[in-house]
Amino acid sequence: MTVCDLGCGPGFFSLEMAQLVSASGKVIAVDMQEVMLDRIMKKVAGTKLEQRIVLHQCEDKNVGVTEKVDFVLAFYMIHEVPDQETLFNELISILKPNGLIFIIEPKFHVSKQSFNQMIAKLEAIGLKIIERPKVFFSRAIVLKYIDN
Ligand SMILES: C[S@@+](CC[C@H](N)C(=O)[O-])C[C@H]1O[C@@H](n2cnc3c(N)ncnc32)[C@H](O)[C@@H]1O
Repeated sequence: MTVCDLGCGPGFFSLEMAQLVSASGKVIAVDMQEVMLDRIMKKVAGTKLEQRIVLHQCEDKNVGVTEKVDFVLAFYMIHEVPDQETLFNELISILKPNGLIFIIEPKFHVSKQSFNQMIAKLEAIGLKIIERPKVFFSRAIVLKYIDN
């Protein structure tokens, strides 16, 4: 699989996903802060994971990934984005048909109402709810992009 760790921060999940995708897969680790990507680079330099992780520095209003992906992880990231509609539309453009988005948000920053409003925006552009996993101290949802 080709997966995108959106708002990857220091790469906690990028590294774990790089293990999961195996040698034929790829993780595109995306963050707008160069310092975060540098941290990942230092962690993987000289390891087998180095070849599986592509670091991508984006702008705050433009993810800018051109490759199609099977899966997007957005862990504790979406609430930091002011214009969620623009972001979600861009994510749809990079997801393969039947691609998945897994969004996890912190309960202490994101109310149930805000989370549900975010889900409504995702459903409005055609994403379907697949699962609502339980994640400690968090609100979480998995959605699928079904290309008609
Ligand atoms: C709270 S941290 C979470 C980091 C990581 N996902 C984790 O769970 O460890 C949020 C990250 O999202 C990044 N971020 C915020 N807005 C962003 C945007 N519009 N595009 C890309 N990254 C963004 C921040 O730079 C930061 O590294």
